[in-house]
Amino acid sequence: MKLKVGIIGLGYLGATTAVAFAKLGHEVIGIDSDSAKIAILESGRVPFYEPGLDEALVEVLAQGNIRFQTTQDANSGSADIHLLCVGTPQSKTGLGADTSYLFAALDSLAPFLLEDSVIAGKSTVPVGTAKELKAHLAQKVDFEPHFAWNPEFLREGTALQDTLLPDRIVLGTDDSWSEKMLRLLYEPITDLGVPLVSIDIPTAELVKVAANSFLATKISFINAMAEVAEVAGADAVKLAEAIGYDERIGNKFLKTGIGFGGGCLPKDIRAFSARAEELGVGHAVGFLREVEEINLRRRTRVIELAREELGSLNGKRVVMLGAAFKPETDDVRDSPAMAVAEQFWSAGANVVIHDPKALENVRRMYPHLETNDNLFDAMDGADLVVLATEWREYRDADPIQLAKLVTNRLVIDGRNALDVGDWRAANWQVLALGRNLERLPVLA
Ligand code: UGA
Repeated sequence: MKLKVGIIGLGYLGATTAVAFAKLGHEVIGIDSDSAKIAILESGRVPFYEPGLDEALVEVLAQGNIRFQTTQDANSGSADIHLLCVGTPQSKTGLGADTSYLFAALDSLAPFLLEDSVIAGKSTVPVGTAKELKAHLAQKVDFEPHFAWNPEFLREGTALQDTLLPDRIVLGTDDSWSEKMLRLLYEPITDLGVPLVSIDIPTAELVKVAANSFLATKISFINAMAEVAEVAGADAVKLAEAIGYDERIGNKFLKTGIGFGGGCLPKDIRAFSARAEELGVGHAVGFLREVEEINLRRRTRVIELAREELGSLNGKRVVMLGAAFKPETDDVRDSPAMAVAEQFWSAGANVVIHDPKALENVRRMYPHLETNDNLFDAMDGADLVVLATEWREYRDADPIQLAKLVTNRLVIDGRNALDVGDWRAANWQVLALGRNLERLPVLA
C-alpha cells in the first residue's frame, strides 16, 4: 500500500531514508530548513558521498515519488507517517546528546499535523527522549499524537542497501494504530522475509544505543588484545582470525587498528554513559569509558611507533593515506585518521593528507593541514607513510612504484590492510598495530 511519508531532516539518515522509501513506492516529501541542501537534492545529487545514492535519487525524482521543501505545510503535515531524522550531535556542554533539533522539528510540524498521522523517531536518542517529545507535542495539538520509535541501523558506505534490506526492523509503539501504519510502511521489506521486532518505545530507543555500544566494545576488545599482543610478542590479526571462527564470537568487527570513529559510535557511547549516569546506573555502562580510552590509545600508538623509528618528528614529511573515518565515505567526523594527522602536526611533522573522497571536508574542517589530491605527488619525499583508512586504492597500490617516490621506505599500517609480504618485497619497513613485525634493515 502506497503511503505518504514525511521525512524531517535530510542529512545522511534522512536523505537515504527518503530515497529508499520512494524507491519502495511510497510518496515521499523530504523537509529540511537548509535551502542549499534542498537545491542540491532537487538537482539529483546528495550533499555527501554515498555509493549508489545519487543514481537512486535521479530514478525516484523521474518517477515523481519524491519532492523536497524547506518548511512544513498543510500537504506535508497530512502525511500518513512523519519520520524524524534530524541529527542528535554531542552537546556542546557535555557528553550527552543534543536533542534540540527534534523538539524544533515537532514545533514546525505541530500546526499542520493531522490526528491520524503517526510520528516515528529514527534519530539515535537517549532512552526516555520519545516520552519527552510526545509530551512536548501534546501541548501544541488538541489531540493525543500517535508517537513511535523506529531506530535505523544503516552504515555509511552501504546506507541504501542497509535501508532497503536491513538485518531487522525495530518498531517501538504504544498504540495499535501506530504499529499498523508502520507495519504497512515496511511491508515491501518484511515481504522479503526481513524480521520485524515489535516492542515498547523505551526498548526501541535502547536497542540502537545498545547495538552501537556492543559494536564499539567489540572493536575495542580486539584493540585491547592488540595492546597485549604488542608487548607479548603475539599477533592480534591472527588472534582475531582464530577467535572469530567461534560462531559465538564471529569474525565481523574484529579488525584491529586505529579504532572506531565517525558520527555515530563515539558520540553514541558517550551519550549512553551520560544518560545512564542521569538514571543512576552509570556503573552499569562504566566499561564504555574504558572502550573509549582503548580507542584513543590506539591513535597515540601510531605516533609512538613513528618516534621509535624516526626519533623526533619535527620537520618530517608524514603522508596520511586516508582521512575518512572508514572507506566509501567522505565523512571525517571524529575520524581516527584525522586525529592521528593532528597529533603528527602537533609534534611538528610536515603532514600531507590524501583521500579519494574526503579532502573537501578536510580542507573545510582542518584548514591548517596540507592536502594533496594526487597520491603520487603526495608521496613525493615522504619520511613516513601511514595507512589510516583502508580504501581499495591504497590496498591495491604498487609498493614498488611508491617506493621510488619516498625518501624513506617506512609505512605504518594503521588498519592492518596492506599485504605485508608485497611491501617487504619492495623493501619497505612495515610496522603495524597489534603485530610484532620484525624490523628489517631497509636497503638504500
Ligand atoms: C554505525 C553502525 O555500524 C550502524 O549500524 C549504525 O546505524 C550507525 O553507526 C549509526 O548509528 O547511524 P557507521 O558509523 O557508518 O555505522 O560505521 P561502522 O561501519 O560501524 O564503522 C565505525 C568505525 O569502526 C569506523 O571508523 C571503522 O573503521 C571502525 N571499525 C569497524 C574498526 O576499527 N574495526 C572493525 O572491525 C570495524
